[in-house]
Amino acid sequence: MERPCAIVILTGAGISAESGIATFRGPGGLWEGHRVEDVCTPEALAADPALVHRFYDRRRAGLAEVAPNAAHAALARLDRHWPGELLIVTQNVDDLHERAGARRLLHMHGELMSALCAACGARAPHPGPLPPGECCAACGAAALRPDIVFFGEFPYRMDRIEAALTACDLFVSIGTSGAVYPAAGFVAQAAAYGARTLELNLEPSAGSRRFSETRLGPASRLVPEWVEELLQSTQSSPMSR
Ligand code: APR
Repeated sequence: MERPCAIVILTGAGISAESGIATFRGPGGLWEGHRVEDVCTPEALAADPALVHRFYDRRRAGLAEVAPNAAHAALARLDRHWPGELLIVTQNVDDLHERAGARRLLHMHGELMSALCAACGARAPHPGPLPPGECCAACGAAALRPDIVFFGEFPYRMDRIEAALTACDLFVSIGTSGAVYPAAGFVAQAAAYGARTLELNLEPSAGSRRFSETRLGPASRLVPEWVEELLQSTQSSPMSR
């Protein structure tokens, strides 16, 4: 019997835009009011921890005001019903994928709802405000910081992600500008190992021409349509490499 195709899905800020979370780049983007190097680098954290912690406290508190949209719900549905390998890799630090019900999920750039100990590396759920100097439950050091992968730091779980990219049959990128590596390079990696590649985005991203297919429009429409198409196709003929 043919195996169902293995899928890797990369999501970015565009999938949460219709939930009311600002994207990073472009007019009204999160980086428009802030210089990235003032809030999202290890140097910024060392120079002004209060400012950096406040910035992420505000973003964490903002999560209470938003809810998953139809695109998050569709991916959670796919996760529940897809019989083959599936991995959702998100660059987003919000928790909308898991609130929609997705389980096969990795946060490569960290999570707002988590704290990281700068002393021992322990990561632990932290839903409330995180002032500088809070103590780590694992080692006791007063070294908790937002569990966010800053520019210049290594994204999480790259070994697992790279293994999935080399083994997948279909790579789908949703709502990301393709401006930040290593995520921007995933399409080329997956294609080099023989995967079909699909982009779902509001506008062509920086790497659009690298995809086998691009569909343009809002994620809340494109993602449910694509998920429906995929689940229907398995009922008639299972896809495989
Ligand atoms: N539906 C689909 N796509 C959308 C929508 C929407 N409703 N709204 C916006 N987009 C698209 C934009 O056209 C853009 O291509 O989402 C993309 C968002 O791009 P960015 O703001 O650059 O966000 P992202 O690609 O996730 O950024 C990557 O950069 O600063 C860092 O660490 C941060 O994880 C982030 C990384």
